[in-house]
Amino acid sequence: MLLRYLLSAISAAVDVRSAPGSGTYSNPVIPGFSPDPSCTRRNGTFFCVNSSFNAFPGVPVYASRDLQHFKQIGNVISRVEQVPGLATTNGTTSGIWAATIRENDGTFYVTTTLVFDNKDQLDLTRWQNMLFTTKNPFAKEAWSDPIPFYFPGYDTSLFWDDDGKVWVQGSHAWHVYPQIQQYQIDLATGLSLSGDPQAMWNGTGGLAPEGPHVYKKDGWYYLLLAEGGTGVGHMATMARASAITGPYEPFEHNPVLTNANTTLYWQTVGHTDIFTDTAGNYWAVALSTRNGTANFPMGRETILTPVVWSGDWPVFNGAVPGHIYPQMSGPLPVPKSAVAGESLAWELASTSGLLAGADEYQNFEPGSTFPLHYLFLRLPDTSKYAISPPGHPFTLALKGSALNLTGTDRRTGNPTFVGRRQTQVKFYASVDLSFTPTQDGEEAGLTIFLTQAQHFDVGVVALSGASARAQGYPEAQGDAVETYIRLRTVTTSSSLQGAVDPISKPAILPLAQDDQQRLSLRVEAPNETSYEFSYAQQGSNQWHVIGSGDATEVSGGFVGTIVGMFASGNGADSATVAYFSNFVYTGKD
Ligand SMILES: *[C@@H]1O[C@H](CO)[C@@H](O)[C@H](O)[C@H]1NC(C)=O
Ligand SMILES: *[C@@H]1O[C@H](CO)[C@@H](O)[C@H](O)[C@H]1NC(C)=O
Ligand SMILES: *[C@@H]1O[C@H](CO)[C@@H](O)[C@H](O)[C@H]1NC(C)=O
Ligand SMILES: *[C@@H]1O[C@H](CO)[C@@H](O)[C@H](O)[C@H]1NC(C)=O
Ligand SMILES: *[C@@H]1O[C@H](CO)[C@@H](O)[C@H](O)[C@H]1NC(C)=O
Ligand SMILES: *[C@@H]1O[C@H](CO)[C@@H](O)[C@H](O)[C@H]1NC(C)=O
Ligand SMILES: *[C@@H]1O[C@H](CO)[C@@H](O)[C@H](O)[C@H]1NC(C)=O
Ligand SMILES: *[C@@H]1O[C@H](CO)[C@@H](O)[C@H](O)[C@H]1NC(C)=O
Repeated sequence: MLLRYLLSAISAAVDVRSAPGSGTYSNPVIPGFSPDPSCTRRNGTFFCVNSSFNAFPGVPVYASRDLQHFKQIGNVISRVEQVPGLATTNGTTSGIWAATIRENDGTFYVTTTLVFDNKDQLDLTRWQNMLFTTKNPFAKEAWSDPIPFYFPGYDTSLFWDDDGKVWVQGSHAWHVYPQIQQYQIDLATGLSLSGDPQAMWNGTGGLAPEGPHVYKKDGWYYLLLAEGGTGVGHMATMARASAITGPYEPFEHNPVLTNANTTLYWQTVGHTDIFTDTAGNYWAVALSTRNGTANFPMGRETILTPVVWSGDWPVFNGAVPGHIYPQMSGPLPVPKSAVAGESLAWELASTSGLLAGADEYQNFEPGSTFPLHYLFLRLPDTSKYAISPPGHPFTLALKGSALNLTGTDRRTGNPTFVGRRQTQVKFYASVDLSFTPTQDGEEAGLTIFLTQAQHFDVGVVALSGASARAQGYPEAQGDAVETYIRLRTVTTSSSLQGAVDPISKPAILPLAQDDQQRLSLRVEAPNETSYEFSYAQQGSNQWHVIGSGDATEVSGGFVGTIVGMFASGNGADSATVAYFSNFVYTGKD
């Protein structure tokens, strides 16, 4: 195990990104489930956030000094008390939508929207906008409780004008015609200082004008939008005005950035934010998905492009419209070590978070807590999770929830589940499991989880003879509860509004009693189209394939896949504790 640890530590340190300061770099800069990016800079450090939907903690915060290495330093939503409503979000596209991060006069601000993306909730209670602040994003539990503020829509963004007034923009999605609106906000109270939100621009006519950001340059107010929907028609468009309130004149050569109508590897480019480095170069981040068999299970990821803004309008990656490629170049920032006097001096080595996309080995050391990049579904029931409980050092102990990962109504609540993002197309992950379930339906294992309608679970499960026969193991005799290894691939193309446990293709194998105490489970993505699931006796390295899942069936939608550990009583709370140990994630591209 020490060897395994050393290998993963080495592979995490020696990564393939460009040397700091060189011209060329690879996209994505933040891989796997990292949609709707927004960045700001304070002195030499860039801070980026993105959306997290039903995941908790929510709104991860990344810091970088070179725009190549992004280290997760925290989460804006890290305490369940901050957003209790996240426990009751309905549907797979609900939860925390796009966030914007800005810094002003020593304080960082994040605006975001808790969305109930629910066909029954079409009124304005569907959008709950909120503002979080911190003076030091590196601090533990750095971010404030939210200040709620009114906006009849989502993708809210703040802009500070030179006169000290602060304006909030957002997408008013359910207006007679969708449009971008804004009002002048009092940041202390979240109230409007300018009356009702006023229209700014409708965009160029693309679907869903959203993701607005305002920048001021040379006396002009520039409004940057995402349009065309977050699919292959996605694009960034711009308009400008000489007053913040408009009228906004569209750029005559819109869009400014898109990969629409190309067959490039990166598709769906849009939802962009522009910022500068210390040398005065402009950059932008945007979301994008890979052109694969479908969208790729990794979901919407964060790409980086250089921007030249010497003339009236910004030019993205050298052209109008700019295009995004896997390999790009620009004079990347050269990170200097902490500048004397910088209040937020940051060295890559001195903070403990994981670099975005890095491999990991977790041994659940006694006294440790969940790493910052670990995700739960909605708000976790903390009584069901323990790291190294008495008598079980170096384990993650999970108690199964009555809910399984699929759930039977439109919300899954909070099944016992925790994991990390899949950050490479090809990877493998494995974990050791010690679990001796006794009740019909008690289960624990490893999952590839996209949404409650789309996940592949391999685990150890106790089934009565009748359950086993009903679930694809006709050889089961009598009624006694026996233990099995089961792979189920849960896939529906619908967004699970009302769907009940759409299980397909279960693979079940009886498991010898001895093996329940020393089993290893593994998932491997050998290529971009499949996941392969296998098991071994702990330490034997003799992997037996159980079955596979089609990666296109965990693709699409707003999020990306999480490689996780789960436990469920499948209908009843489980009393048997599952002990996980030695979790490994190794990317292969
Ligand atoms: C976006 O958020 C995800 C978690 O939802 C995180 O893994 C990713 O690194 C984030 N990207 C940025 C740009 O913050
Ligand atoms: C979620 O959906 C269920 C079933 O339609 C409904 O009873 C519940 O009120 C909804 N919750 C929210 C917060 O929308
Ligand atoms: C948006 O479109 C509507 C309908 O075409 C139009 O009446 C309105 O003036 C437009 N608003 C702006 C700010 O362009
Ligand atoms: C892509 O092509 C379609 C069809 O010609 C056109 O309607 C659309 O505007 C184009 N999109 C972009 C971003 O150029
Ligand atoms: C993805 O790439 C393939 C091969 O180049 C191309 O045929 C296909 O049209 C592309 N898809 C999109 C949406 O561009
Ligand atoms: C860093 O930023 C702070 C606040 O923006 C500023 O007061 C300070 O002078 C900056 N320090 C350096 C070294 O630039
Ligand atoms: C991907 O890997 C699976 C499992 O090894 C294999 O069956 C499949 O043919 C591969 N697909 C491609 C496109 O290489
Ligand atoms: C998931 O849980 C529900 C009850 O909450 C149950 O009906 C369903 O059969 C469970 N799925 C499996 C595979 O046991």
